[in-house]
Amino acid sequence: MSQEKKQAKIAVLVSGGGTNLQALIDAQNAGIITSGRIEVVISNKADAYALTRAKDAGIEALAIVRKNFATKKDFEDAVLKELEARNIDLIILAGFLLVLSADFVNRYPMRIINIHPALIPSFCGDGYYGLKVHEAVLAYGVKLTGATVHYVTAETDGGPIILQKAVAVRTNDTPESLQLRVMKQAEWKLLPKAAEMVSRQIIKEA
Ligand code: GRF
Repeated sequence: MSQEKKQAKIAVLVSGGGTNLQALIDAQNAGIITSGRIEVVISNKADAYALTRAKDAGIEALAIVRKNFATKKDFEDAVLKELEARNIDLIILAGFLLVLSADFVNRYPMRIINIHPALIPSFCGDGYYGLKVHEAVLAYGVKLTGATVHYVTAETDGGPIILQKAVAVRTNDTPESLQLRVMKQAEWKLLPKAAEMVSRQIIKEA
């Protein structure tokens, strides 16, 4: 990253409603994220409401739809092209539901972070995403769950942990009520904080 840059260039990858993206946008506008700036939002789904949130915030929003590409590599190459064109320094996975290949991840070592709606190493790995995580939490009967921000490596949900926050499980919780509380009390607080921390680190290393 060239010296004169004062902010890390951030790309946010999304797949759905974009509430975590919204938390990042709100934090950037509130001056909580100052060491980085969201340059582009990329969704693998054309109808992701996250794209609307980006546009409403005046942020470039791209749909790069997986099914429009013959192979996963072609899809990832299309995403990488957009990231490189914008000299992106940090990639944030915010409700992004595709698993990125080792080739992709290794292009951005310690420069990709993800929010997972559980306390890794619990309730994570293949098949644990969205509501499924909270269904498993309730089925197991744990009293505490929460969210984790971690660096992304080739191992699903396996990279070094950056931040975690615990959330109490209530006896009358449904997967939906628990998901919402984990989002409100943990995800939407942790991801902006982690984005600022990692952006600051990137600038320092520049
Ligand atoms: C949330 O449960 C988040 O933890 C997970 O994807 C779900 C939707 O996120 N990663 P968002 O509203 O699209 O940010």
